[in-house]
Amino acid sequence: MIKIGKYELKNGLMLAPMAGVTDNTFRRLCMRYGAEYTVSEMVCAKALCYEQKAKKKSADVGATASLAEVTVKDMPMAIQLFGSEPEFMAEAAMMIEQLSYKGCRSDTPPAAIDINMGCPVRKITSNGEGSALMKTPELSAKIVRAVCDAVSIPVTVKIRAGWDSSSINAPEFAKALEEAGASLICVHARTKEQLYLPGIDISVIETTKKAVSIPVIGNGDIYSADDAVKMIEQTGCDGVMIGRGAEGNPWIFSEIAARLNGDIYEEPSIEQKLSVALEQLDAMILAKGERVGLAEAKKHMAWYVSGIKDAARARSSIMTSTTALDIKNIFKELLGTK
Ligand SMILES: Cc1cc2nc3c(=O)[nH]c(=O)nc-3n(C[C@H](O)[C@H](O)[C@H](O)COP(=O)(O)O)c2cc1C
Repeated sequence: MIKIGKYELKNGLMLAPMAGVTDNTFRRLCMRYGAEYTVSEMVCAKALCYEQKAKKKSADVGATASLAEVTVKDMPMAIQLFGSEPEFMAEAAMMIEQLSYKGCRSDTPPAAIDINMGCPVRKITSNGEGSALMKTPELSAKIVRAVCDAVSIPVTVKIRAGWDSSSINAPEFAKALEEAGASLICVHARTKEQLYLPGIDISVIETTKKAVSIPVIGNGDIYSADDAVKMIEQTGCDGVMIGRGAEGNPWIFSEIAARLNGDIYEEPSIEQKLSVALEQLDAMILAKGERVGLAEAKKHMAWYVSGIKDAARARSSIMTSTTALDIKNIFKELLGTK
């Protein structure tokens, strides 16, 4: 059991933040199927602060504010911030906790503020943000301290093993962040240099767990209950965070929970899977409008069909479809009902 503020997570099953993937529609589906905790897509702290100064009416204030939306039905959920300047990080965190930024559509503060110290994308690291912070532990601790001072909710941090194979520093880095006030650390067991390449060494999660007394969450390449159990048993981590393993498979959380609770897991039928996929498609279109909703939903729809007979053909039809009805017809064909 993990405690994050007033929330208790029985098995510590978390959905990883994935920009462009884990929007509120998908997060809610994962919670329905057993995720106990979710994290928003990463939100740029500086952009949120700058949006406050923009000469726009609240309703127009845009993209950044909407990424930070959290409602009571999403709880427990963290909002993840990225940035390298302690003042902007603290100001953004405070506005998020107080629901005081322009364009805020939240009806509750999040369960926690999570800080991104793992993103490997060049656009981010070239500003000293994301995983580049693992090269500047003093600045990173300063950021955590500034955010902790600015909010009353817990502050958590998502890190990698280190920058590259010659600078693996997750254990001592996590220790410094714990001393700065972090309440929980999630370790993605890859270096920045490894990006998302296959083949990870989860022993760094074990050494990090031994180095700190706050909960440590293991992350990386969990695609089944077997993978989750292996991660927990081999590293002693307090919970697991799942990213790509949940794509097109929000049921992975039920599968893992069933294993950990000694229950029987019944895999959903293809009909059930595609019906949930269509529910997601409709919800995304409702939330984002037909054009953006459909464009963003296509990759999800393609993930849902993987493993089904004729999936490759269906996937390419999904990617070239122009309406939601096209996708519904592709699914009907897959099910042999058209
Ligand atoms: C498309 C994509 C977007 C991601 N966006 C974020 C993000 O916004 N914040 C973050 O901390 N990690 C992000 N990640 C990293 C994931 O949270 C996770 O650490 C990584 O995918 C490894 O876990 P997995 O093997 O279960 O997918 C992203 C990963 C992917 C593939």
